[in-house]
Amino acid sequence: MNNSRRSGFMKQKRKNHGHSSSKKTASDQQQEGNDVTRREFLGGTGATLVAANTLPLRAQETREGVDIEPEVADVPRTAISITVNGTEHRTEVEDRWTLNEFLRDHVGLTGSKIGCNRGECGACTVLMDGAPVYSCSTLAVWADGHEILTVEGLEEDGELSTLQQAFMEHNAPQCGFCTPGQLMSATALLENNPQPTADEVRHALAGNLCRCSNYNAIVEAVIATAGTGGA
Ligand code: FES
Ligand code: FES
Repeated sequence: MNNSRRSGFMKQKRKNHGHSSSKKTASDQQQEGNDVTRREFLGGTGATLVAANTLPLRAQETREGVDIEPEVADVPRTAISITVNGTEHRTEVEDRWTLNEFLRDHVGLTGSKIGCNRGECGACTVLMDGAPVYSCSTLAVWADGHEILTVEGLEEDGELSTLQQAFMEHNAPQCGFCTPGQLMSATALLENNPQPTADEVRHALAGNLCRCSNYNAIVEAVIATAGTGGA
């Protein structure tokens, strides 16, 4: 662009600028409308922010006047008696606690794992009166008066059970996360059927998923304990 053309371009630009400041085009009016809307929006947002800041304070005052955590204090509790691995526990539990929560968080037995927490994977399996149950889907109050066996209860005097030893010898645990649940289901099977076939083992362990897909080794380990009852 030569100098004369640049000069003409700048004059036209100044002219346009002057025009827009003295007379509003439809575009300007629309822009102004947007500005007003934006100002109104920002004003409204500010008011909303103030309200948002005050609401928790009011709620906090209410809580401080009554109870810091009323939602916890108001939870129904029930006195229960559960025998876990041969030891009786007489205690009070919140009605909403699962058996797994009771075992892991309140008895300190962390052997039963939480995989899905919704009755799908079997990692939380424990035995209730000898039968496998998903402890994530069993309330602690439902176990009142029952006997619970967890993976910690399989060993005796520091010795692993025959089934646990077979698991090690057959490399049944890979990451090991499903192992406690597999052991409990297999223990229940061997208790009732000391010499299961491979298909019977697969059927009994169908509710225990292994993300490492080590199913063949797990079945081999259970079969290897045939006749021992797994104890
Ligand atoms: S954690 Fe209980 S079934 Fe998966
Ligand atoms: S060994 Fe890893 S999930 Fe079964």
